[in-house]
Amino acid sequence: MQISHAPLPKPLKIADIKIENASTKTFILGGKLEARPGQFVMAWLPGHEDKPFSLAAADPIKLTIADVGPLSHALHQLQIGDSIWVRGPLGQGYTLPVNSKDKPHALLIGGGYGVAPLLFLAQQALALDYQVSMIIGAKKAADLLLVNDFKTIGAALWLTTEEGSTGIHGLVTDAIPAVLAEATIRPTLVCTCGPTGMLRAVAAVCTAEAIPVQVAWEAHMRCGIGLCGSCEVGEGWLTCLDGPVFPFDPAY
Ligand SMILES: Cc1cc2nc3c(=O)[nH]c(=O)nc-3n(C[C@H](O)[C@H](O)[C@H](O)COP(=O)(O)OP(=O)(O)OC[C@H]3O[C@@H](n4cnc5c(N)ncnc54)[C@H](O)[C@@H]3O)c2cc1C
Ligand code: FES
Repeated sequence: MQISHAPLPKPLKIADIKIENASTKTFILGGKLEARPGQFVMAWLPGHEDKPFSLAAADPIKLTIADVGPLSHALHQLQIGDSIWVRGPLGQGYTLPVNSKDKPHALLIGGGYGVAPLLFLAQQALALDYQVSMIIGAKKAADLLLVNDFKTIGAALWLTTEEGSTGIHGLVTDAIPAVLAEATIRPTLVCTCGPTGMLRAVAAVCTAEAIPVQVAWEAHMRCGIGLCGSCEVGEGWLTCLDGPVFPFDPAY
């Protein structure tokens, strides 16, 4: 079923549920969207406020959701055959420039559920003949998300854990020098998604290396369509409409 872009939410049945780690599940829904990686949908359940979730895939729609509070916890209780109300796609996604002269190289960097939209982006980049490197970071090995999915599609993979049991000991930024040292093609852009502190740290390293960065910014959203102003960042930018993906501005 192709769902409309109208602002009214549509109920979509859960076709499958994949348990990703102790606190994260991916919900595969019985519907598809024409959408770009980095765009999001507003998801709603009766009795709850609707909240934004990045598209982990668009055909079929996949949402990768961490159980952290009232709505996400209620979503985690759902079973196959139950419905989630969805409206979207909303916002601006990542942009993959295509230069026919040189093979481009996208370095993708994700933490937490921010890894999920980057899998969608990696698939699109590979289809556009990009070289794709992916850095996945987590506090501990059991929290690393979608590692096998990135291996399966053929992305070069670096892992970091803060406790050091798997991959590079440290934060995602600690893997960037290794990627740059080993890359046969210098990354032509970096796309990142995760907690705000991580986004700022990644952007600082990549700006110093003169590599353009696109960040997926999070903000409190209510309407998701540019009406309520609750997601304003910087000087009049609405995260739901102008973002959530922005070229990183070092001034902000
Ligand atoms: C553009 C955008 C895309 C998003 N995409 C996703 C997504 O793909 N998957 C996803 O799970 N969430 C995503 N979120 C977050 C999501 O919209 C909700 O904020 C989240 O599910 C919590 O909602 P809640 O009602 O369950 O709990 P809330 O009451 O909103 O939060 C409960 C508590 O958990 C904290 N919290 C919120 N998120 C996290 C987190 N990730 N880790 C730890 N603590 C947290 C809150 O600060 C609060 O203290 C996205 C947000 C934005 C703005
Ligand atoms: S969420 Fe209402 S303006 Fe962005």
